[in-house]
Amino acid sequence: MATYLVCFVLLFSFVNSLKYDPTWDSLDARPLPSWYDDAKLGIFIHWGVFSVPAFSSEWFWWQWKGKPMPAIVDYMQKNYRPDFTYADFAAMFTTEFFVPEEWAEMFQDSGAKYIVLVSKHHEGYTNWPSKYSFNWNSNATGPNRDLVGELAAAVRAKTQMKFGLYHSLFEWFNPRYLDDKESGFKKQDFVRTKTMPELYELVNAYKPEVIWSDGDWEAADAYWNSTNFLAWLYNESPVKDTVVTNDRWGSGCSCKHGGFYTCSDRYNPGKVQKHKWENAMTIDKYSWGYRRNARLEDYLTIEDLLTQFISTVSCGGNMLMNVGPTKYGKISPIYEERLRQMGQWLRVNGDGIYGTKPWVHQNDTVVKNVWYTMKKGATETDVYAILLEWPDNNLVKLGAPITSKDTTVSMLGYPEKVTWTAGAGGKGINIQIPPLSVETMPCEWAWTFKMTGLQN
Ligand SMILES: *[C@@H]1O[C@H](CO)[C@@H](O)[C@H](O)[C@H]1NC(C)=O
Ligand SMILES: *[C@@H]1O[C@H](CO)[C@@H](O)[C@H](O)[C@H]1NC(C)=O
Ligand SMILES: *[C@@H]1O[C@H](CO)[C@@H](O)[C@H](O)[C@H]1NC(C)=O
Repeated sequence: MATYLVCFVLLFSFVNSLKYDPTWDSLDARPLPSWYDDAKLGIFIHWGVFSVPAFSSEWFWWQWKGKPMPAIVDYMQKNYRPDFTYADFAAMFTTEFFVPEEWAEMFQDSGAKYIVLVSKHHEGYTNWPSKYSFNWNSNATGPNRDLVGELAAAVRAKTQMKFGLYHSLFEWFNPRYLDDKESGFKKQDFVRTKTMPELYELVNAYKPEVIWSDGDWEAADAYWNSTNFLAWLYNESPVKDTVVTNDRWGSGCSCKHGGFYTCSDRYNPGKVQKHKWENAMTIDKYSWGYRRNARLEDYLTIEDLLTQFISTVSCGGNMLMNVGPTKYGKISPIYEERLRQMGQWLRVNGDGIYGTKPWVHQNDTVVKNVWYTMKKGATETDVYAILLEWPDNNLVKLGAPITSKDTTVSMLGYPEKVTWTAGAGGKGINIQIPPLSVETMPCEWAWTFKMTGLQN
């Protein structure tokens, strides 16, 4: 008996410790840790040397020297000395007002359950003191701080959010990368000496629970060695049980392999997908990095954001909402307002968002701008109808729900009773809302009705 038990334990731990092979078949079979689907909202943070010019976008260097854009070339000629280089911007990445606890509190207040900080963008500058990015990192040049480490510590000390990192596989101008590219990606010097050591360093030092990979599209996953890294990440890394990854691990991988699917930027397909997905989008319509030249109308309004968010969640996605902090380390008040408005809305309506699943219908069959979510309890199923428009005459006439004699309806954040009648022919539901004004309604912008005892 004892021998049998020992054998069993050994076998079990063997199976457990060698779970995933470095193949997509094996890696794709890993169940996504459940915290991620429950979380629904994350905050993306694009911060780096590109936050210094803060003009056009985080692709500034490329737009200046890679594939020059006249507006950028002109701007540099007019405003900087002739021998100024992109590297010279790094000293001006000062971050003097960066208080990581302040950011952590603000992100938590938005209702987000995770954040994804850019650790390194395509410019190659690392926001942590990487051993593999000599002098082109935030400890050596610019802030003289470990930005990744400081934010990770603040998020863990002050909030319940998960801490995640974005990382770019390729670097536009890294000579070693360009060499590999020149060889048709037969050489892997860049991957061996830069990309992979960096990724292992990040995971071991900061234990991120999201790895948001990017910059993969010029070369296949075999060049990047992605499946070997992921097998290590899922089998042996300090975050093996809780980490989630995205799908940008080599050309052709996006929307096909990896953890959750991001497909294209601002992906919001409008219908349920077979695989868990994320809508990575920006509050500034035109840029991920901060832009000093942005106008008010360039920022999505809270109504725009909620339209994106609610349709995303209803179709089974998460939304990763991006802010671009300034080079001096503050998040500008317009971003802050949007973050706090999301939180204000979620504090009233979060019950219909967090931990929900798609229902049989995503939007209503009759009324425009109504989205559904669902939560299955042990005994009953709650269906949530989220309205992006206040109905005429305080009467909501929905087409999709099929009521029963046990149906109950309530409005989130509103304590009084809400009455209803079945729609014509027993299909649909008419919900009579008490007259509410902006002062008396639970929250502006969008309203949630919770229905129990439906037949569908
Ligand atoms: C960061 O920079 C300081 C000052 O140059 C140096 O003493 C320290 O070793 C660096 N830290 C790391 C982790 O490289
Ligand atoms: C790819 O990963 C494997 C397993 O970790 C390692 O042995 C190999 O050296 C890596 N190759 C490159 C180019 O990084
Ligand atoms: C619901 O969504 C579908 C798919 O996007 C769309 O074709 C349809 O018009 C929407 N229904 C209403 C009532 O808006």
